[in-house]
Amino acid sequence: MPYVVTVNGMRRSVDVDQDTPMLWVLRDVLGMSGTKFGCGLGLCGACTIHLDGKPVRSCITPIAAAAGKRITTIEAIGGTPAGRRIQQVWIELGVPQCGYCQSGQIMSATALLAAKPNPTDGDIDSAMSGNICRCGTYARIREGIKRAAHGAANGKQGA
Ligand code: FES
Ligand code: FES
Repeated sequence: MPYVVTVNGMRRSVDVDQDTPMLWVLRDVLGMSGTKFGCGLGLCGACTIHLDGKPVRSCITPIAAAAGKRITTIEAIGGTPAGRRIQQVWIELGVPQCGYCQSGQIMSATALLAAKPNPTDGDIDSAMSGNICRCGTYARIREGIKRAAHGAANGKQGA
């Protein structure tokens, strides 16, 4: 059936079954390939998007649960203050290795920073524990989040 979804500020109409996961809608219907397929079971975090600013696994989020909410993907996360800071430090530190998991990592890290501008180690562990990186970039991810938070504390968020 037809659904209207708002993705990165743009209203899009899609005609899919109500249980179609948002990951398929984004990649196969809307042609947005930045959100990645990893496990398809909600276990790896590669497919993370934001619904109303909160991170969700798009592989297990049916369109019926996303319609009517503000959907943000990796393609637009750099347009938010927290997303811009995270992407800047990701580049500064060379966080990605193969890069496959990094879309999801950035989406989870951005949601954390937006909700908690000065996260503790426990906050970072809690927010990022569901995002798996087969290349083992965890130390750089942690450093990147801390550096992004530090930059915000020093008034660089608008840069
Ligand atoms: S692909 Fe969605 S959590 Fe792994
Ligand atoms: S950078 Fe390769 S899986 Fe994370």
